[in-house]
Amino acid sequence: MASPVVVTHPLAQIHLTAIRQTNTPSAQFRWHLQRLAEILFMEASRSLETAAVRVQTPLAETDGAAFARPIVLVPILRAGLGLQEAILPLVPDATVAHVGIARDEETALPMPYYAKLPSILAEADVFLLDPMLATGGSACAAAAQLKAAGASRITLVCVVSCPTGLEAFGTQHPDVPVVTAAVDERLNDKCYIVPGLGDAGDRCFGT
Ligand code: URA
Repeated sequence: MASPVVVTHPLAQIHLTAIRQTNTPSAQFRWHLQRLAEILFMEASRSLETAAVRVQTPLAETDGAAFARPIVLVPILRAGLGLQEAILPLVPDATVAHVGIARDEETALPMPYYAKLPSILAEADVFLLDPMLATGGSACAAAAQLKAAGASRITLVCVVSCPTGLEAFGTQHPDVPVVTAAVDERLNDKCYIVPGLGDAGDRCFGT
């Protein structure tokens, strides 16, 4: 199994606990998910390269930093939008690309149905966003789409992962680091993560 970066910061675990709780209403679910996304992104962006710039303070000129490359956020529709909403304000100049991958509820296989990707992927730091790494099918398909379009620096940010998804993703994309708040036990027979948090999209959007 690929080794993810598991964010064990107490605040991350408090927000994770709130979104696991089955009776947390959508408004609170979204709020806690967004706070957790901010924390995960702080870790995921830890090794972003910066370039030296000079900055003029009111008192003197001094050294500063700018992102070395453009940043692209790629939420996998639709649950990834819950992460993107929180992360974009942290990197407001980022480009947002959308990838639509539905899960066939019978086979649990990924079905790509939409992709709107920018032309700057080859030069960008790319963050693929999906709250749940279950079978890994959607994340694997999305990462493959991004690579085919030129991306080579990709990080996957997910809230809850599991051994099956990490194994599949690590095998197909060993070059893509995974940042997560939890590695749960297993998948059930419907390919939901156990204990997990249920359907992240439904819980986020109240459907
Ligand atoms: N997608 C979800 O939203 N939840 C799971 O447990 C698995 C896939």
